[in-house]
Amino acid sequence: MKALVLSGGSGTRLRPFSHSMPKQLIPIANKPVLAYVLENIRDLGVTEIGIVTGDRGDQIAAAIGDGSRFGVRITYLRQDAPRGLAHAVTTARDFLGDDDFVMYLGDNMLPSGIADAAARFRARRPAAQILVHKVPDPRAFGVAQLDEDGRVLALVEKPQEPCSDLALIGVYFFTSVIHDAIAAIVPSPRGELEITDAVQELVGRGTPVQAIEYDGYWKDTGDVEEVLECHRKVLEGLRPDTGDADVVDSELIGAVVLESGARVVRSRIEGPVVIGAGTLVEDSSIGPCTSVGSGCVLRDTGLRDSIVLDGSSVTGVRGIGGSLIGRAASVTAADKGPRHRIVIGDHAGVEVAV
Ligand code: TTP
Repeated sequence: MKALVLSGGSGTRLRPFSHSMPKQLIPIANKPVLAYVLENIRDLGVTEIGIVTGDRGDQIAAAIGDGSRFGVRITYLRQDAPRGLAHAVTTARDFLGDDDFVMYLGDNMLPSGIADAAARFRARRPAAQILVHKVPDPRAFGVAQLDEDGRVLALVEKPQEPCSDLALIGVYFFTSVIHDAIAAIVPSPRGELEITDAVQELVGRGTPVQAIEYDGYWKDTGDVEEVLECHRKVLEGLRPDTGDADVVDSELIGAVVLESGARVVRSRIEGPVVIGAGTLVEDSSIGPCTSVGSGCVLRDTGLRDSIVLDGSSVTGVRGIGGSLIGRAASVTAADKGPRHRIVIGDHAGVEVAV
């Protein structure tokens, strides 16, 4: 079996971050979402992985490399434009050959892995196997209607009146039959070649399509709220490790990870918290549920339930929460002039207490 990881797309819901970095590289507890994806695939014993990228493929290749770090071999496959999930599969046609494959959306987090689903696929080998997850409001998802044996009777994309509460999640298992089905479909009204249409094509032909209910934690990290929610969940499993970090006159409570060369001075850190390599925390109160990247400076700052990316600084501002702060960004207290002075890029969002 091979794997195909979809890491192109436009990422409009994750603007402004997706203006400058692919959303699959957003760090959760200082590790890119895509690294969690590759580890889950590696844990299936699958070592041939194709990664479909868009115009930010260079950044993905720079962060992930040839896969040897994960014990896998990676082939990068360039999709000319985000023309849909099924189109991404056609981009990978030569790489996939006639092998079975697991298709994994590169922004989906499943921290408890997909080993059971893979074992079920390998044992039964239906033409396609989808994963579904019970959600309170399925109207924003592809929704599956199943018979009592888990065979898929129908798939409907974003239904107004859902026939079940089982949403499709971003991991699919396919035999090579899927290529034939993709060749038979046309772009949807939104102009994309939809994988749900290809799977529905198989169902319509009477080809066996199975669904597995995934009851572990699952999150599509498509927008900021989802990223922060997933971050809280992943941090629940954090184990304290302060390594060689320099801690002076400070209090560390609970699961705190200090990466190499981090320095904490006259501060209070309440875990779960990860502080990145070479970051300075001074006269600050950090956490819980916070990750700070490498090379950051947090001075006279109060920060909780947030993610700060590499090279950023926060100085003299307390009460920051529920925030995602991009790379090399700076947040400072205004010392003169207007009370709030804001310099932000396109599609950024700021919420200010008034
Ligand atoms: P989506 O999140 O559904 O689409 P998107 O990335 O365009 O995001 P948005 O809706 O915010 O604009 O994509 C799911 C995953 O599949 C994601 O990792 C990107 C990837 N993808 C491709 O690789 N090629 C594509 O053509 C599309 C649409 C998505």
